[in-house]
Amino acid sequence: MKRVAIDGKNALYPSLTTIVGAEVNGKPNWITIAHVGIMNHAHGEVPQYLSIGLHSSHYTNKGIHEYGEFSINIPSQAMLQITDYVGLVTGEKVDKSEIFPVESGSLNHAPLIANCPLSMELRLSQTVQIGQHEIFIGELVNTYIDEACLTDGKPDLAKINPLLFDFMMIDYWSIGQRTGKPWRDGKLLKKQNT
Ligand SMILES: Cc1cc2nc3c(=O)[nH]c(=O)nc-3n(C[C@H](O)[C@H](O)[C@H](O)COP(=O)(O)O)c2cc1C
Repeated sequence: MKRVAIDGKNALYPSLTTIVGAEVNGKPNWITIAHVGIMNHAHGEVPQYLSIGLHSSHYTNKGIHEYGEFSINIPSQAMLQITDYVGLVTGEKVDKSEIFPVESGSLNHAPLIANCPLSMELRLSQTVQIGQHEIFIGELVNTYIDEACLTDGKPDLAKINPLLFDFMMIDYWSIGQRTGKPWRDGKLLKKQNT
């Protein structure tokens, strides 16, 4: 192996490709967002927090600021083209409100995509400004999934078949095969080393 420095290139890919929904000027608006993050692991009374990073210029930001609510929808591979489209045009110029069938959850201003395998509704908790980007940290309020994507009552990645995003080569990817079990497959080494 010969390792070379590549000038601090962000290599934290693949990330999940999501479609974030918000209500802007009284209508749903949709934006493709791949810079998503898991802020913590919810336990007991502590809610789950998720982050999305949006450039300040985007139309969607206005709705998130206005209502303090948004959704994160996880499209399947079958939705690749339409997912890319909502990441190519801005709601400032093109009305994207009728592109997807809309469903409401328990929040009033976090539109959900009814034909996405999975949608989450969030209440804005904090906004962090980093340069030209706004990082919206939301508290997860509820998650809705197509029953057909469940195995033993849990969301099954193989059935959701999500779109992965790579900003290095600029590509979409799909997930491959399951390769192991976390917190189990390192146990032999743990035993040998402790
Ligand atoms: C695959 C993909 C991923 C994207 N991820 C992000 C992202 O994480 N953050 C961001 O600010 N813009 C991202 N964009 C760009 C926005 O989706 C795009 O500028 C969109 O048209 C803005 O819509 P709006 O102005 O209606 O809010 C992405 C676009 C694509 C195609």
